[in-house]
Amino acid sequence: MMSTSNVVAIDGPAGSGKSTVAKLVAERLEWSFLDTGAMYRAVTALALRNGVALERHEDVVQIAQECLIDTIPRVTINGLDVTEEIRGSDVNHGVSIVAAIPAVRDAMVERQREWSQRQARGTVVEGRDIGTVVFPDATLKVFLTASPEERARRRGDESADSINRRDEIDSTRAVSPLRADESAVVIDTTDKSIDQVIEEIVQCLHQR
Ligand code: DC
Repeated sequence: MMSTSNVVAIDGPAGSGKSTVAKLVAERLEWSFLDTGAMYRAVTALALRNGVALERHEDVVQIAQECLIDTIPRVTINGLDVTEEIRGSDVNHGVSIVAAIPAVRDAMVERQREWSQRQARGTVVEGRDIGTVVFPDATLKVFLTASPEERARRRGDESADSINRRDEIDSTRAVSPLRADESAVVIDTTDKSIDQVIEEIVQCLHQR
């Protein structure tokens, strides 16, 4: 039986502050941290490297099912370091296609649960479907939002068009679309400092 005690699930769109906040909450609690987006990105990077057309779902699924992924301290797939590559425009563009393939998601979700179970202490897991699908019984579910302008600003190099396109695909796909779970604490980070958001999350956790 999967144990979901001591999981903080953090979901939200690109640029909502998820990665920064989730990492720092994990440090503060001395819990393990998992960036699940990096896993979908790593699968995409390997598929692109192997010259797999992302529309060929069977080939992408095979990679997702057979690969070995690490996200800490570097993002590696089958031992190949893709830490920088997964933030590039090719992966930005392809990852939503890969993340919409149901069998790819199944393979990633299984790994995310297994990984979490292996951690001695609690885990902070960030993504799009963590509170809704991966850990529906998480101790605390947080959904971060921010205005479109602020999200584009935070994303730096990636254009607003590219972010909007990715959010549109992520929110409207048939499987596990991005949405706030009904029991999630929704925090709009637009006018908040990182410290304020972290404090709010830690306070919520302590009230559980
Ligand atoms: O958080 P990120 O921008 O690194 O996520 C990359 C892509 O992966 C994004 O398009 C949504 C997808 N993703 C997902 O579908 N489910 C997750 N749990 C994490 C990310």
